[in-house]
Amino acid sequence: MTKNLKTLIDKLETEHTLTKPEWVTLFDNFDDELRAYAAEKARAVSLREFGNKIYIRGIVEFSNVCKNDCLYCGIRASNSNANRYRLTDDEILSCCDEGYGYGFRTFVLQSGEDHKEYPASRMAEIVRKIKSAHPDCAVTLSLGEMEYDDYRLMREAGADRYLLRHETATKALYQKLHPEAMSFEHRMECLHWLKDLGYQTGAGMMIGAPYQTSDNLADDMLFLREFEPQMIGTGPFLPHKDTPFKDKAKGSYELTLFVLSLCRLMLPDVLLPATTALGTIRPDGREQGVLAGANVIMPNLSPTAVRKKYMLYDGKICTEDSTDKCKNCVQARMKRIGYEVEITRGDHK
Ligand code: 5AD
Ligand code: FES
Repeated sequence: MTKNLKTLIDKLETEHTLTKPEWVTLFDNFDDELRAYAAEKARAVSLREFGNKIYIRGIVEFSNVCKNDCLYCGIRASNSNANRYRLTDDEILSCCDEGYGYGFRTFVLQSGEDHKEYPASRMAEIVRKIKSAHPDCAVTLSLGEMEYDDYRLMREAGADRYLLRHETATKALYQKLHPEAMSFEHRMECLHWLKDLGYQTGAGMMIGAPYQTSDNLADDMLFLREFEPQMIGTGPFLPHKDTPFKDKAKGSYELTLFVLSLCRLMLPDVLLPATTALGTIRPDGREQGVLAGANVIMPNLSPTAVRKKYMLYDGKICTEDSTDKCKNCVQARMKRIGYEVEITRGDHK
């Protein structure tokens, strides 16, 4: 069996695509040996594409207010235990200034869907200010679903990239993970708008989300193949105690690493973070992610005082730490496995 499965990994490596039944076979039957086989090939591809250099992006989590109610997420609107906060424009800018000093050349502004307080016009102004203070930096936005004209306004203000995970490419699963008010079609439409507007666009899904099957993951891979995002953000599902999914099992660490390797083999030059969730499920998860083909790490630049409040899932790492601590920590972790953090925007080719 493993021999046939290895043939599928070889095929993915050379043809960069598989059929749906082939994807399902991989997800249903992989074991540690196959995972190691895929990781070794994926690592060779990242070394060829990026050398032993890791790109870093500093995330500023500027508001945890959210109008949405995703069933998995700790900052969902109906979680009345969440202690809500919003950063001012000046606070956001000082996080970026501090990050710049530590070598960050990409700032990711992320929040809940708090568009009343932070409409596109306000975000465009913040982007302009960051760009004029740091013209050599990229700005990534991760603000959820908006309308075409909003995305256009912020793009015209100089935003370079946008992260919007598709969460799942299967409509029926999307509906199990989200309240009725959210539409699978609109999310997909947003992703296409972002790409059309020239954003380097990131999609992605959680691994092991409740109700997710191998068939669903196969659909995710087919979607990613076709959409060809510049970035793929993917990490394990982790339950949060104040959500309807509090008693659901967490996603598989091994499957997450396997998916990272498959993404690297499918889209050799894609920007692929070893996510915070991966570092949360295992202390050396991010290192193992890099060794499985990831090439990006996204440390936190948020003020330490608010970090604990941006709890998407229980146990999130780095919530007691500061920007310099995380930067040094990530640098040391990468060094230990033979990689180097690079001071660069780290654009998609
Ligand atoms: N576990 C893992 N990832 C989560 N996200 C949200 N909630 C969780 C959770 N409980 C991810 C979603 C979202 C991104 C910002 O964080 O995929 O798109
Ligand atoms: Fe934040 Fe290690 S990266 S403490």
